[in-house]
Amino acid sequence: MPISAADTALPRDVPTDLLIGGRWRPAKSGQRLTVSDPATEQALAQVADGSAEDAKEALSAAARAFFAFRKTSAYQRSAWLRTWFEAIRRERHNLARLITLENGKPLTEALAEVDYAASFVEWFSEEGKRAYGRTIPATGTSRRLLAIRQPVGVVAAITPWNFPAAMITRKVAPALAAGCTVLLKPASLTPLTALALARLWQEAGGPDGSLNVVTSTKAAAIVDAWMADFRVRKVTFTGSTPIGQDLIKKSAAQVQRLSLELGGQAPFVVFDDADLERTIAALLVSKFRNGGQSCVASNRMLVQRTILPAFISRATAAVSALRIGHGLEPGVELGPLIDQAGRTKVLSHIKDALAKGAQLKSGGQALEGAGFFVQPTVLTDVGPGMLVMEEETFGPVVAISAFDTEEEGVALANASPFGLAAYAFTESASRAWRVAEALEYGIVGLNEGLPSTAQAPFGGWKLSGIGREGASEGLDAFLEEKYIAWGGIDG
Ligand code: SIN
Repeated sequence: MPISAADTALPRDVPTDLLIGGRWRPAKSGQRLTVSDPATEQALAQVADGSAEDAKEALSAAARAFFAFRKTSAYQRSAWLRTWFEAIRRERHNLARLITLENGKPLTEALAEVDYAASFVEWFSEEGKRAYGRTIPATGTSRRLLAIRQPVGVVAAITPWNFPAAMITRKVAPALAAGCTVLLKPASLTPLTALALARLWQEAGGPDGSLNVVTSTKAAAIVDAWMADFRVRKVTFTGSTPIGQDLIKKSAAQVQRLSLELGGQAPFVVFDDADLERTIAALLVSKFRNGGQSCVASNRMLVQRTILPAFISRATAAVSALRIGHGLEPGVELGPLIDQAGRTKVLSHIKDALAKGAQLKSGGQALEGAGFFVQPTVLTDVGPGMLVMEEETFGPVVAISAFDTEEEGVALANASPFGLAAYAFTESASRAWRVAEALEYGIVGLNEGLPSTAQAPFGGWKLSGIGREGASEGLDAFLEEKYIAWGGIDG
């Protein structure tokens, strides 16, 4: 049943202003940016379009708030985070609806994202209490040596549109748990979820200035204003590798700490002893979660030649059965891409592969009419030199290539400068272990299409980034080490 305008209306109380020092206010310039539904291309809301001036004010608010916030106890911060977690769970349906409206993903996936987002808040509300230091035996008897960990300072968090809630909580919750104050710049395509989450933090008792949100279309101006300032001690970013490389350069002037979750180009390696039913189920999750718009989405399906025909026929049947449409329509499994640029890129990858000899088994076209839809697509006979094999497609394209031996499969999987996630499918325990060890990736899914979870370290090797999010490592990223030598002790 098609979605009506009434179905896609936003609740009237969704915040649309900047949050600075605990106060909601419009951009100084009065400018507003338009947030649209990628499934209809209709405007949803006008949100404050902040400038460098707003960013600097937010930074001063975060820096002022840090003096008091750093001194709060880990238990107090844990209590605020727990209340925030409960508020997110309570608002699960409203947040999921917002995500579907501004991002396009199906409601069932948006609900799963809210749960995923909440899980980071819950995890770090607990892990923040475990920011342990240590004592170190001294060489003499008159000194005591200690190492303690303290919040790194004001944190700038720059988050993407593909997971408008989870990529925020994965950064903001550990920063707050560690005692840092935060400047958040959410993606201008999906700012509504960010603002709704910030309001829930405020309602949970989060102190004024602990979380500041600057929504803006002028990403470079905002980030430059923050990174040029010594008071920002940590920058955490999820997005493309070129922007990550730029942030590495910008961080040099103030020697800011960095966590970078950058692009991927994930191989999905299927060996001849794989359980094909389980493998296809994992393929659907790994490839079609958020329509393939995920850094951990499988991009290159490498399949052992002996099972290639069976894999292609099962994958084609499963992919062509996916129901495409507005994410609020019941039963929809695949929404639109985020915007015209995203759609153009995906279509150009399909066209390039077909021009270079790939075969189209299913899909391959944009849908007519409004919305940035691309049919779920299966390509076979894919090979080196095609864009689908070399770049992150970020769309609903299953690109299948063959290999003969285990060594060749692993070598093809590793033939990428990216190293975020890789997937391998086999029923042999020794092959699973061998392959997992050989893959040059930060995350390996073994017979598993969705490895991401709050308690495990998420992050990439090579061009895919620096640092880890989630797990205890995710808290470490916001703590500085301090060594204390205590001398003059008698006895
Ligand atoms: C991402 O695509 O950046 C994150 C995906 C995840 O956390 O699983």
